[in-house]
Amino acid sequence: MIIGIPSEIKTGEVRVAMVPSNVEAMVSKGAKVLMQTGAGANAGYLDAEYEAVGATFTDDRAEIFATADIVIQVQSFGSNNENSDSDLGHLRAGQLVIGMMDPLASPAAAKSVAATGASALALELVPRISRAQSMDVLSSMATLAGYKAVLMAASASPRIFPMLMTAAGTLAPARVLIMGVGVAGLQACATAKRLGAVVEAYDVRPAAREQIISVGAKPVELDLDTGESEGSGGYAKQQGEEFLARQRELMTAVVAQQDVIITTAAVPGAKSPILVAEDMVVAMK
Ligand code: NAI
Repeated sequence: MIIGIPSEIKTGEVRVAMVPSNVEAMVSKGAKVLMQTGAGANAGYLDAEYEAVGATFTDDRAEIFATADIVIQVQSFGSNNENSDSDLGHLRAGQLVIGMMDPLASPAAAKSVAATGASALALELVPRISRAQSMDVLSSMATLAGYKAVLMAASASPRIFPMLMTAAGTLAPARVLIMGVGVAGLQACATAKRLGAVVEAYDVRPAAREQIISVGAKPVELDLDTGESEGSGGYAKQQGEEFLARQRELMTAVVAQQDVIITTAAVPGAKSPILVAEDMVVAMK
């Protein structure tokens, strides 16, 4: 069994599909791991570290797609539309490709892979049930995104996040609004709170209210009927334009008071809703 790990080619992608400890586990089970030269470099793992646990390297990307039984990528077909046509040409029946593929937003790419006869496992669609938690790429990455969004906002904001009392005077804490409180939003609330900001948050799912309070943030109450907002699996349902327009209208006054707004709202398989319109930004201080 040959596991192939090509370099990530999407612009800005620095992750790698397997770190050396993963390779070690696969090699100990009898697999051969063939990697593209430098595949782990941007993630901070040198070829030598992989070689030390049994990986072999090639400069020839095509060789990886042509010989591997399983190809593992971070951003695979569909998720990476930048340069995957040549890779696609090497796929064949019986081969398995594993990675993020964004198939709901890129159905054409999913069809192209299917036409090669290869099987594809889009990690975003692994059910988020207890026994599949170790494969949940959405929660782990959303947690990091929520954390990082706050750090970026804190760095870009002219106002510091915590309240500071000095002999020369007092600085009030920054006001931060988080819109969409799933995994990313909840982590953003917690991180902004830890930095000392006053944090408010809003989500269409009524169940999110309790979670907002649990991390020390204040839920924004809007006069909106959200009784039907939650679909299956704890996800939000797609809302109509009428609902979203009303949401923006009610949010305008809340938005105007904020120093920082972080939006993480998403609906599986649909375009993310536009929650902050230009006039709302103009009304901010
Ligand atoms: P997501 O990334 O699909 O969406 C982010 C958030 O945006 C959601 O909370 C959604 O309600 C919200 N949203 C959508 N439209 C909105 C609008 N118009 N205004 C305001 N907010 C809006 O969701 P995510 O983060 O993947 O998780 C959603 C739910 O799934 C959460 O309740 C989470 O706890 C649950 N979950 C459960 C897991 C498990 O049981 N193993 C694992 C991961 C998540």
